[in-house]
Amino acid sequence: MSKTFLNKPVLRVLAGERLLEPPIWLMRQAGRYLPEYRAIRQQTDSFLDLCFNPKLAAEITLQPIRRFGFDAAILFSDILVVPHALGQHVRFESGEGPRLEALGEPDDLCRLRGEIDHDVLAPVYETIARVKEQLPERVALLGFCGAPWTVATYMIAGRGSSDQSAARLYAYRYPGAFAELTELLVESSISYLARQFEAGVDAVQVFDSWAGVLPRDEFQKWCIEPMARIVTGLRQQCPHAKIIGFPRGAGTELPRYLAEVPVNAVGLDWTIELGFAREAIQKLRPVQGNLDPVVLLAGGLALDRGVDSIMQAFLDGPFIFNLGHGVLPDTPVENVARLVQRVRGRAAY
Ligand code: CP3
Repeated sequence: MSKTFLNKPVLRVLAGERLLEPPIWLMRQAGRYLPEYRAIRQQTDSFLDLCFNPKLAAEITLQPIRRFGFDAAILFSDILVVPHALGQHVRFESGEGPRLEALGEPDDLCRLRGEIDHDVLAPVYETIARVKEQLPERVALLGFCGAPWTVATYMIAGRGSSDQSAARLYAYRYPGAFAELTELLVESSISYLARQFEAGVDAVQVFDSWAGVLPRDEFQKWCIEPMARIVTGLRQQCPHAKIIGFPRGAGTELPRYLAEVPVNAVGLDWTIELGFAREAIQKLRPVQGNLDPVVLLAGGLALDRGVDSIMQAFLDGPFIFNLGHGVLPDTPVENVARLVQRVRGRAAY
């Protein structure tokens, strides 16, 4: 076991170790709630240009590490760079979220490339190498991608929505075409994540942010099975790859997800009952989560109480402190500082 590995608390937990003081990082820790991010963002029209600018993307990745001393840095990029590298052009309208040219009918699949273009993604790999050089030894570098189901919801609708019904409709109407798209995304994800490991990430997280909108059988077919293929395929190329799965909204389906998907840890959203999570999930695999991002926005005693109950629930087992989803843009930076202090200062539960 290498020295660097032992010095990174996040990797120790991913290997199944229980730490007295849990490591902490936050989804969307680099983003609009940070004034230093907004200052850089103002200089570029396009969010995607920022994702593909290694110097600026590396700087943004490091900003929350400098300010809060988190235990992991997550690569600054977006899950939608994968459709972009498959030839489906992505734009971000300011204040409105992503826009893609929708794949409404099965015939539209022929507009996609047969595999991702790594030349398009080369700046991402360069960002990883740059961050790696500047990161303190104890901080883990996380890469990521979106899970096929979540990425497909944006590819089909051409945008986000509250229930992703366009992709659900497509999957019921055209299961063959949807399976084809899913397979393309499985292969693309394996290849993309393998390159991220080659470039220097210590672990990766796969975001299935829309897992929770699917009925049980569809969750099995479009979330569990593709994710199992990604994990197995990636480990064929990178045998020691550490992988965190985050099937947001999976709830009581999580034990089945973990039985079939050999991830090293699982991210929990804030809706899960803590007793169930401790007994039925953390006994199977290390857990990460799960403070409500709105509690972080609220701050004060609500925040302290939220932190304390999560710590009490999970500190007897392997655990990484995080939110149940990303930091909201209006979150005061003082609340994030208070959160980190509370998690770090209260090891003895
Ligand atoms: O977590 C991090 O700090 C790393 C960077 C990161 C971003 N997006 C930066 C971002 C990560 C890991 C993501 C993942 C992502 N992107 C997901 C999965 C996680 C989740 O939030 O559910 C999804 C669904 C996307 C797609 C996406 N990107 C949407 C729907 C939006 C618009 C909504 C919004 O918050 O603006 C984005 C834009 C985006 N991605 C921003 C950032 C910092 C804001 C862009 C800006 O600054 O204008």
